Parts: sequence; structure tokens; C-alpha cells
Amino acid sequence: MKKYLSLALAAVSVGVQAQTVNVICSVQAEWCNMIGTVYARTTGTKINVSMKGSGEALAQLIAEKENPKTDIWFGGTGDPHLQAAEQGLSLEYKSPSLTQLQAWAQQQAQQSGYRTVGIYSGPLGFGYNTELLAKKKLPVPKTWNDLLNPELKGEIQVANPASSGTAYTMVATLVQLMGEDKAFDYLKKLHKNISQYTRSGTGPIKAAARGETTVSISFVHDAPGEKIHGFPVEAVTPTDGTGAEIGSMSIIKGARNLDAAKKFYEWALTPAAQEMAAAAKQFQVPSNKAAKVDANVPDFKKIKFINYDYAKYGASAERKRLIAKWEKEVNSLPR
Ligand code: G6P
Repeated sequence: MKKYLSLALAAVSVGVQAQTVNVICSVQAEWCNMIGTVYARTTGTKINVSMKGSGEALAQLIAEKENPKTDIWFGGTGDPHLQAAEQGLSLEYKSPSLTQLQAWAQQQAQQSGYRTVGIYSGPLGFGYNTELLAKKKLPVPKTWNDLLNPELKGEIQVANPASSGTAYTMVATLVQLMGEDKAFDYLKKLHKNISQYTRSGTGPIKAAARGETTVSISFVHDAPGEKIHGFPVEAVTPTDGTGAEIGSMSIIKGARNLDAAKKFYEWALTPAAQEMAAAAKQFQVPSNKAAKVDANVPDFKKIKFINYDYAKYGASAERKRLIAKWEKEVNSLPR
């Protein structure tokens, strides 16, 4: 009896020690590293974090569908999480904490058949280097059309919508704001002013902060972090309307470490875990209603939002179609 008891205890302790969770993390490195370190220290779980943009993360999950190496996908824009849900890449899971979340986060869960959940939200807008803009004697861009100013030729950066959720949010926002034909005409004109389509959604705001480009199309919550580091950068939202992301989290279907993944998921929905975003200088609105909202978080009441149709633009066929159309009709054009 004693022997079996100690064997059982040994098995339990091995089990505890062996808990591992493999996370794809689609927010900025400082936040990914912070949650990795804190979670490992406080729970004893081994956590492997791999950083990938939202579109790249989805591509990896599609590639490893038959043999998933990922347990949980943390963060990144909501549209590719919805696509993952539709493609059966993520697991249905209803958190007991759902009711503690903002309505938009719960809606994201419902729309996916509980295969994803909102963990934060933030508006799309423009970043600009205050010194470069002043040097060029250019006004602060206030509308989408302001970005077509010929004086901004080669002075704007945005990411590539195939790899970046930020850039896909821009394409989907413009299509909803202008109608598809006008949005693509706009994107073709904008193309002339773009110096580079970066892989990552935050590349452009970092470039604007460092004076490598004058203007960026970015989530505005990514600007204060650069400013805190001392860079001359500000952000605005277009007065004619913009979209917001619902940053999301999904458990992967076939996760090898399902229990550990669920524990991490529950932890990530707590106010304390969500407040780490601001501690890592990333200023989205947290989805848990009890999480503190940092003073640097953009004030949603002051922003003109479109009524972003997450179900439509997170649908697999629509996302693929718009990205392919952008590649063919916009990215292939000479500048
Ligand atoms: C940054 C933002 C997040 C966003 C993410 C998307 O990390 O702070 O709010 O979800 O970019 O990254 P991506 O590279 O996919 O555009």
C-alpha cells in the first residue's frame, strides 16, 4: 500500500513538474516575455513562447494542423482567430470567467462558437514623427485622404496584410468605410506613398518613432510605449472613421498540454494578468471589466468608429479573398 502511495505521489509530482505550455504570442515582445516569466515563476509551469504576427501565426497553425505543436495562441488581431475557429484549428472552450469580460470580448467568443475570446481591444490610426513632420512643414494627417498627399511620397509605412493583423484590419476597415471599389482605388493611390510594407504590424510605428519614416498606419495604442522611450512620436485616429481590433486568444485543437493550456487561458483572463499589458507599455483596453485601464489607453469615446463586422471580415473566404486581391491589385504595382 505504502509503495503504491509513494509511486502515486511520485507520479503526481512528476506530472506537476512536467507541466508545459506552448504559446504562440502575437503581441509585442516585452509583453510576451513578461507573461512567460511571471507565469513560469508563479505556477512552476514550463512555458515556451514563440512570437509571430497574427497572419503568420494562423499560417503556422494551418501548417501544423495534423500534428499541433502549439497549445495556445495568445493575442493578435481577432479576424485570424475567427478564421482559425472556422477552420477547426481551435478548441471550443467556455471559460467560467466569460461574464467578467466586456461585451465585445464575449461577442467575439459567441461569434466563434466559443473557440476564441477577446482579451483586449484597440483602434487603428496614424502614427507620425513630430520632428520630421515639422521639418517638412506638413500638417498632421487627420483623414484617410490626407495620407494621399504627394508630399508624403515614400514617407508612409504600413505592414503587409498577409503577415500582419494590423494591416488586414486596415484593409477591412477601408472596405467597410468606403465600399470595396473605392477602398481598392484608395489603396492603389496610397501605394505610391508607401516606402515599405513591413512584416510585423508594429514595424511602422517603430520606424516612425525612430525617424525612419514620417507616418505609419498603426494601432494607436502602440504609440505611447514609443513615446515613453523618448521618441518624438504621436498618434491620431482619422476623423472620417476607423476600425478597432478585438485582440483574441484561442486554445488549439489537439493541444498536447490541454490542462496546462486551460490554466494559462484562465490566468490570462484575470485582471492581474491583463494589467501586465500596460506594465509592458502596451496600451490596449483590457477585456476584463475589473482590470485597471491605464491613462495611456486611447479614449474610445473620442474616436469615430465604423461598425466593424467581425464575423464577415474574420470569415476565412473573405479574409483570403481580400488579401489575395491586395497582393494582385495593389502590392504588385510599381511605385
Ligand atoms: C501589436 C499590437 C496588438 C496587435 C498586434 C498585431 O502587438 O499592440 O494590439 O494585436 O500588434 O500584430 P500584427 O503583426 O499581426 O499586426
